[in-house]
Amino acid sequence: MEKYIIRGGRPLEGSVTISGSKNSAVGIIPATVLVKGPCILDNVPEISDVFLLFEILRSFGAEVTRLEKSTYRIDCSHLKEPIVADQPAVRKMRASYYLIGALLGRFGSAKVGLPGGCDFGSRPIDQHIKGFESMGAKVTVDLDECNVIAESNGLNPASVYFDIVSVGATVNVMLAAVGVPGRVTIENAAKEPHIVDIANFLNAMGADIKGAGTNVIRINGGRELKGGRYEVLPDQIEAGTYMVAAAIAGGRVEVRNVIPKHMESISAKLEEAGIGIEELDDSIIVTRYDRPTRINIKTQPYPGFPTDMQPQFSTMLTLASGTSVITEGIYSQRFRYTSELRKMGAKIEVDGNVCVIDGVEKLTGTRVHACDLRAGVSMVLAGLVAEGVTEVVDIRHIERGYEGLVDKLRSLGADIEKVNDEQPESTSPEILR
Ligand code: EPU
Repeated sequence: MEKYIIRGGRPLEGSVTISGSKNSAVGIIPATVLVKGPCILDNVPEISDVFLLFEILRSFGAEVTRLEKSTYRIDCSHLKEPIVADQPAVRKMRASYYLIGALLGRFGSAKVGLPGGCDFGSRPIDQHIKGFESMGAKVTVDLDECNVIAESNGLNPASVYFDIVSVGATVNVMLAAVGVPGRVTIENAAKEPHIVDIANFLNAMGADIKGAGTNVIRINGGRELKGGRYEVLPDQIEAGTYMVAAAIAGGRVEVRNVIPKHMESISAKLEEAGIGIEELDDSIIVTRYDRPTRINIKTQPYPGFPTDMQPQFSTMLTLASGTSVITEGIYSQRFRYTSELRKMGAKIEVDGNVCVIDGVEKLTGTRVHACDLRAGVSMVLAGLVAEGVTEVVDIRHIERGYEGLVDKLRSLGADIEKVNDEQPESTSPEILR
């Protein structure tokens, strides 16, 4: 299996161009199921999660064609009913659950495999189900077959109030609501940039969705979506990851193709740690002048500090001067990777959803495991600055969400390569997708 080998100690210099947003693309691609006409998508990130979704759509009878790098044409006009989404690809990724909303919206029913195996307990979808049920669907979770079955005789207008702020539930209910003849109102909706992006895509195809980006979204459903062209938003978390890479490794990096407004919480925390941030129209220049200083972080729904940047910042803070405290406000188990950083010499203690980091002078390279996407890329960030050689294994987790990571880092001057490893990858279950 493949792994990354990183020889640390090289500062990063130059510019890096950010790809399209993973979390937008994995919503927009299932959303094309609602469109009876060709959709041309630009700035699609070429990552394994996107390729899995294309494989699933093709199995439904959709035509998916690569027109050029990052531009795809998807035509779901002639899907073959009945559609059952329970192939292995569905169970390999989290975002396949958007097929429930999309199929419900188009056909009034859906049968979709539980995402990522049966880890239903740790990543509940009760708010998604509550939303579908309030639109009149009958939802059954078959834990023996690991399927979600949603049935209806046609969905009805509804007002949905979420008990917690959930990205996935907001998107899923929005997708189903596009097929409702009448208005669906979502209250306590999530406000992440990718939710606005998915709503903008649907509107560009002919839907009528208002309020995305606020906590109340109103969908006037029942319109025919006819197709069109749409450009996926730049990836906020990929951009933040390269910003932290520069802060950790040192040097000066221009991170291009970003929306600086979406980066505000990340930029503010880097500045608080003493890292230079210069915002231009669609790029941010990150300069490290000195060792970062300690900061505290609490992850929250957007516009708060994103949980998907928590492992990268924790990694940077292992080398900061002083003691930092990180409070994880979204996922209680998002500190599993800290045991890997300890192997490299980091001083980190975890107590529940709080992690205390005492900054050390240096990390030392060793073999570390990518336990999920963001934790995995954080091992790469640690390797950029560690003394000696860092081997990152289980990199399939990283390649789900970072397009061309090795090439992009090499173009900035990092010494990183991807090689074949004789040892098999671990079969540990993925928790965060
Ligand atoms: N939750 C429930 N019930 C639900 C839904 C969520 O209790 O019905 C809980 C979750 O367990 C979690 C919290 O609510 O504690 C927030 O979960 P949310 O639904 O917002 O997360 P998600 O939709 O499953 C998306 C991203 C994640 C990102 C989170 C939070 C996609 C495909 N995934 O997940 O991205 O961490 O929002 O911003 O958009 C990543 O990219 O690495 C990643 C994990």
